[in-house]
Amino acid sequence: MRLISGIEEMQKLAEKLRLEGKRIGVVPTMGYFHDGHLSLIKRAREKSDVVVVTVFVNPTQFGPTEDFERYPRDSERDRRLAEASKCDVLFTPETSEMFPEEYLTYVQVDRLSNILEGKFRPTHFRGVTTVVAKLFNIIRPHLAVFGQKDAQQALIIKQMVRDLNFDIDILVTPIIRETDGIAMSSRNVYLSAEERTEALILRKALDLAKSMIHGGEHDAGRIRRKMDQLITSTRHAHLDYVAIVDADTFDELPKLEQGRRILVALAVRVGKTRLIDNTILTP
Ligand code: PAJ
Repeated sequence: MRLISGIEEMQKLAEKLRLEGKRIGVVPTMGYFHDGHLSLIKRAREKSDVVVVTVFVNPTQFGPTEDFERYPRDSERDRRLAEASKCDVLFTPETSEMFPEEYLTYVQVDRLSNILEGKFRPTHFRGVTTVVAKLFNIIRPHLAVFGQKDAQQALIIKQMVRDLNFDIDILVTPIIRETDGIAMSSRNVYLSAEERTEALILRKALDLAKSMIHGGEHDAGRIRRKMDQLITSTRHAHLDYVAIVDADTFDELPKLEQGRRILVALAVRVGKTRLIDNTILTP
């Protein structure tokens, strides 16, 4: 596995690989790998000749009061796991080269960046789309893999790729969970033992939505209220939002229609840690 942190070195390699006719797959991450990340690398491995994994804790996607400074980092362990997952190139750019002091240009996907997560994290998606666009320009991949765990992020990236004519296939892979059902996340390390138990409420709330929908409930408001009640009954968990939207467009759906794929997504603060989860259901 080759380790690259210089942008120019990465661009030169990408140029060479393209000239050789190689299909480049990229997996953008912020590191501190868990099995969710590794499942993305595996998917990229299946679909490309050369797999590039990026690790960059992107300051532009964190709000001023968010956890950029304390975001977990372990570059040595990430390197080992990337290598074991048959990654070919581990790209770890420096913040000072990605966002030098005179940096002025941002990519913003309107509307989709302002709903759900965007309401609680107003500059978040602008930071995500900017860094991902930069990574696409540096690595020039044929395909990029993202996780369904961040459903809104995946939708926004697909929109950006369409709007800006990036010639890149976007693959989205399923959520990987711990054995007790909690979605894997680098942020789970923030949770105390007690909070970790309470964090199961996200999964339970999604299960409740699932059983209501499979039981024939078509009123999204009623499902949201039941999920809200369940979460409010815990000691440390506070609901930011529950959304029940069209899985492909994120349009609000007051009444669920037979056969139309819906996304049930929620964000919950457990103590100081903000967790998100979602599931796709078909009434
Ligand atoms: P990060 O949170 O490190 O996630 C990297 C990728 O792993 C994302 O596509 C995310 O959806 C996926 N992922 C995280 N947890 C997962 C899980 N439990 N199951 C499956 N996939 C999972 O998302 C980011 O980084 C950043 O916003 C980034 C796209 C790298 C831009 O900075």
